[in-house]
Amino acid sequence: MMSSVLSALNIQTFLIGIIVLFTVYKFRQRWKYKLPPGPFAWPLIGNYEVMKAKFLHEICAKYTKIYGSVFTIKLGPFQMVVLNDINSVTEALVKRKADFANRPFIKSVDVFTEGGMDIAFANYTPTWKLHRKIAIKALRQYLAGNRLEEVVRSSMNKCLSLMAKENGPFDPENYIDLMVFNILHAVCFGKSAELDDPDFVRFMKIDRDFTDIIGKGFVEDMFPIMYKICSTKKYRTVKEIFDEMIAMIERKFREHEDTFDCDNIRDFTDSLILTRKEAEQDEEMMSQLTDTHLRQTLVDIFRGGIDTSRVTLYFAIRYMAGLPDIQSKVQEEINRVVGKDRLPGVNDRESLCYTEATLHEAMRLGTVSAFGLPHCTVCDTHVGGYDVPKDTMVMMNHWALHHDPNYWKDVDKFDPTRYLDENGKLGIKPESWLPFSAGRRVCLGESIAKPELHLIFATIMQRFEITMPDETNPELKLGGSGLIPQPAPFEIIVKDRNMT
Ligand code: HEM
Repeated sequence: MMSSVLSALNIQTFLIGIIVLFTVYKFRQRWKYKLPPGPFAWPLIGNYEVMKAKFLHEICAKYTKIYGSVFTIKLGPFQMVVLNDINSVTEALVKRKADFANRPFIKSVDVFTEGGMDIAFANYTPTWKLHRKIAIKALRQYLAGNRLEEVVRSSMNKCLSLMAKENGPFDPENYIDLMVFNILHAVCFGKSAELDDPDFVRFMKIDRDFTDIIGKGFVEDMFPIMYKICSTKKYRTVKEIFDEMIAMIERKFREHEDTFDCDNIRDFTDSLILTRKEAEQDEEMMSQLTDTHLRQTLVDIFRGGIDTSRVTLYFAIRYMAGLPDIQSKVQEEINRVVGKDRLPGVNDRESLCYTEATLHEAMRLGTVSAFGLPHCTVCDTHVGGYDVPKDTMVMMNHWALHHDPNYWKDVDKFDPTRYLDENGKLGIKPESWLPFSAGRRVCLGESIAKPELHLIFATIMQRFEITMPDETNPELKLGGSGLIPQPAPFEIIVKDRNMT
């Protein structure tokens, strides 16, 4: 009896101690720094309203009205500053670019990047700078030929022929998934795989499972002690899938090294091997860049490219199905510039201005990377008139930038002409359009994503007239959740335009 009273007292003392320490820490922070304001947050849990929100961008729109465009929220143990307008985002990413260039430490991410050996989540260090430089050079090298056009054409031929067999309403999601995966697989590992190739099918399955199961993340990241004592089944399953994915990439990488011929660069992996060989001669630092770094570059390309491209196209197709007038204008332009006898190519892009503007508008209204990737401050710094201490997580709200009524007239209207000048050519990029972010951590894949998405979109539009089944509400409803909005599932009907 006595001992249980004592232990209850001890727990009480312990809890009071924690609360006192927490309060002192908070006061010290408030006194030392002028921190961005924000709603009340519980210790460990954070802001309850943020936790239960279906979409983070919706709750951020509410807080912007209360606290202004720079505020602080807390999600579990992660306290983060959110930037919600183009001025504060530009101040952080461009004016003070080095201050905001780190990534926060998240244990599960550290495991899946084999100890921060990737580009997307690694910290801003000299090794990271070299790694990113090598990857950009390899990508440029790869894009210099017409390999991208070849692989897109080959993959689209296979996937669109399957899609053409649908003779009633269907959800295009799986076809888009197949196109994007097949293309990125070919970019990394050579020619476009047959859709029933067992290696390709297995690779696609583990990639899908990895994304689907991760969902909203791991409870272990909220309570890291769990990694040591009892990890969840979800975490163990994802780890197993990840190990298989890494083993597959490792095997493909080794096969490339064994058959490498610098006079015959077949794909991005070859470009990467070549770029490393070239850099070895004059870069002392190269010794720090291991095979794990190169393997993780391929994970970066897959993980960075697949979901972003897939959801962008899903949005674009959904908008076209609900907006027949805009679809007709895109098709009229493709008929005029490309015709029906050949497929659209990379060089047509600069003449297909309305088509490109339509894609830009789909990327604005359906911002797939709504909050980009989390940044972290390298040192004590400032933004929007507030202090931001070293090691603070900072999120850029790209969704808010793309829906800011101060920058976009009729903000919810789908209007490709926003991007065109009086001659119908692509004009200067609108100030608050920033889907690929900016600064030191700007999307590494922007140079490949833009032509890739354009080619896929233009090829679909050239081939099919897309409509929605009768009685479908043409207005787009959002599905997905949390940080990643996407269109709610929908059905389309396709009619082969070449058959009419
Ligand atoms: C619609 C297409 C895409 C969009 C909208 C998009 C958007 C973004 C955004 C917002 C970021 C975060 C930037 C930041 O931290 O400030 C990012 C990072 C990144 N993206 Fe993309 N992305 C797309 C396609 C791709 C593709 C196709 C690839 C690969 C080929 C790719 C690879 C990466 C990588 C590696 C990073 C991390 C860069 C770093 O930390 O230095 N992305 N992307």
